Amino acid sequence: MNLSAIITALGGRSALQQLLDVGPSAISNYMTRGHLPNRVKPIIYAALTAKGYRVSADDLEILAAPSKLPTSDMATNLGPRILLIISGGIAAYRALETARQLQKRGARVTGVMTESAKQFITPLSLAALTGEKCYDHLFSLTDEAEMGHIQLARSADLVLVVPATANFIARANAGIADDLATTILLATRAKVVMAPAMNPAMWAHPATKNNFATLTQRGVHMVGPERGDTACGEEGEGRMCEPSYIADVAMKMVGAISNNHLSGNIDGKKKQAGPLIGKRVIITSGPTIEPIDKVRFIANRSSGKQGHAIATALASRGASVTLVSGPVNEAPPGHVNLVPVTTAAEMLSACTNAIAGKPTDIAICAAAVSDWRVTSVESKKLKKPRDSNAKLLLELRQNPDILSNLSNNKNRPKLVIGFAAETENLFENATAKRYHKGCDWMIANQVGGDDDPVFGSTTNKVLLITELGVETWPKMLKTELAEKLADRIEAEFYK
Ligand code: C5P
Repeated sequence: MNLSAIITALGGRSALQQLLDVGPSAISNYMTRGHLPNRVKPIIYAALTAKGYRVSADDLEILAAPSKLPTSDMATNLGPRILLIISGGIAAYRALETARQLQKRGARVTGVMTESAKQFITPLSLAALTGEKCYDHLFSLTDEAEMGHIQLARSADLVLVVPATANFIARANAGIADDLATTILLATRAKVVMAPAMNPAMWAHPATKNNFATLTQRGVHMVGPERGDTACGEEGEGRMCEPSYIADVAMKMVGAISNNHLSGNIDGKKKQAGPLIGKRVIITSGPTIEPIDKVRFIANRSSGKQGHAIATALASRGASVTLVSGPVNEAPPGHVNLVPVTTAAEMLSACTNAIAGKPTDIAICAAAVSDWRVTSVESKKLKKPRDSNAKLLLELRQNPDILSNLSNNKNRPKLVIGFAAETENLFENATAKRYHKGCDWMIANQVGGDDDPVFGSTTNKVLLITELGVETWPKMLKTELAEKLADRIEAEFYK
């Protein structure tokens, strides 16, 4: 600790006296002894970080002088600057661990807290951890000595909201800007990532689902929530993802953003920057629905969660993604070209059209395509006969196999990936499917278990079968699986 440097930084001896509420002799004593009483250390630490100094929490060593306007210039090799917004839920305490994980990965973290977040953690604890001032008040930023909220918003390479409560998600969706955190969301040009965390009933509420869907559509990248014990003590979907995972996603998103100079236009749409720039991808997702008559249909339980997560992961790495999806409740991911379809026949023609125009690099068939369709669909609602013993026989025909079709197409994408959902003999059946359908990789998952149904669930446990053999992947979130698959695809194209 260099006490003279601290005194200068705080504006002189009398400023330090005032701060500590002591007389001049106390300061002289500190100078003579060369150390400070423990009681005053947190006060000095808070005052220095509030002035923008980076200070070591252990020995109050000044590590860096304040810069009035932190830059987002990652070319300076200082690491990406992440604006960490903490909203007020019980999971707020896990934001501290998220900050630590981000720093471990080389990010500089600036904290912003909502009023209600301060009910759970203090700005001082975040400032102590990040070594940066934690901003918590809109109007303090109008002070000359501070940076304005617009500058703060623009200084970030990424805005990360941890946790994003139901209330915060609702305010962000509505565009309300009544505090510093929501104002930053409106003013920033950086990518926004949110990690929702809330009680399962709040997460299941249609209002929350709508807000979440709209934000996703606008390009906000959502991490979780996942199923498990929530901080409020209930079990269900709504638990915040692990801080280390959130930090991984954030760093990946920043990686994509750092390549911004590469961005341009694909198909007239703004393309996302990233390592898969220029790669054209087609993904099928969700179920197909095959009509029986005017009102009835054959369908399955596919939620589209996995296919949509893969689309999100690849688009965020810069790929130009066409997502051909059957009817699902999932929000369409941002920055993908969504082609909604209903039947297998429609899905096939959307896929063949997509690969006909331009060479496609990757096809991923994650859809649960109905194997059968009714031979002749009734144009009216089928009437129930009066005779209660009467039977109805439906004649079914096989649907085209889209994965086989893409694998054997003259415009075959370079890498074709299928999913095999099996109830038994997972490896054998999936290996046979890979061979018969002619795809390069097959991702196999066991379905139908009572404890984890996979369909509709947020987690998945799979085998990846390639020409080189089989890899067993541990149980993970579908969003994590999407990222892991995206890593494998990147490695395949840049090996
Ligand atoms: O249903 P099945 O187990 O055969 O599905 C394995 C893979 O084949 C999945 O990737 C699925 O999307 C694809 N598939 C398809 N068209 C079908 C049936 C399955 O593309 N008609």
